[in-house]
Amino acid sequence: AQQFLAAACCSLLLVIGVTAARVIQVSYIGCFNDNSSKDMRGLSGIKSVGEISVSDPRVISGSMTQDFCSSFCALGGFPYFGLQFASACYCSWDFGSLGPAKESDCDRPCNGNSSQICGGSWRNSVFALTYPKRSCFKQSQMPSLTVSSTLPTSWSLAAQTALDCLIPCEASADCQAVIFSGQQHLCHLLRFAYPPASLSSTDGDYFVRG
Ligand SMILES: *[C@@H]1O[C@H](CO)[C@@H](O)[C@H](O)[C@H]1NC(C)=O
Ligand SMILES: *[C@@H]1O[C@H](CO)[C@@H](O)[C@H](O)[C@H]1NC(C)=O
Repeated sequence: AQQFLAAACCSLLLVIGVTAARVIQVSYIGCFNDNSSKDMRGLSGIKSVGEISVSDPRVISGSMTQDFCSSFCALGGFPYFGLQFASACYCSWDFGSLGPAKESDCDRPCNGNSSQICGGSWRNSVFALTYPKRSCFKQSQMPSLTVSSTLPTSWSLAAQTALDCLIPCEASADCQAVIFSGQQHLCHLLRFAYPPASLSSTDGDYFVRG
């Protein structure tokens, strides 16, 4: 019955104009200024996402690439990401508060791929991520990975059926997945594809944007 619901929801959403897979398009925007207050702050408060630690508000890695940053920021559905000084990845809902910089200021090859540029000194190489306007949800096993944060990364709604969960999630850009608990008549909407540890053993059905 649960599987039927997921399938039914997918085809319902398909009818109103969905692409089946969550295809991501990555486009380069330009080189932008930064300072120690940090222009791109979408990861503020986040301590870790799955196995990746966040050094508020960015991920630092000796093997940073554009591809890593893009896939990482997509876990939170962020529309922009930025790379700085070869090793730092920022995710954000906006960018550019300190204005554009000269293209030649973004001159650092990425630590993990020297054919790619990862910003410069106080400079972000900024990219846009585009998602399909409407996406399908896939029901799957609850991920064993979790998100750790000083700020809430989920919110709850009363729900009688999984659809009461999927429809508000679909309508909210910062909802990436849901947990529907039929027993509790409750829906948990998740800001990242992974749940906070406090919800990871919820007895419910997990759906992620497809
Ligand atoms: C960074 O720039 C912003 C915008 O100009 C400014 O408000 C902020 O005070 C600056 N931060 C530092 C530490 O200079
Ligand atoms: C390194 O970056 C280049 C340019 O974006 C890309 O074509 C290549 O596949 C990347 N290499 C690896 C190992 O990911």
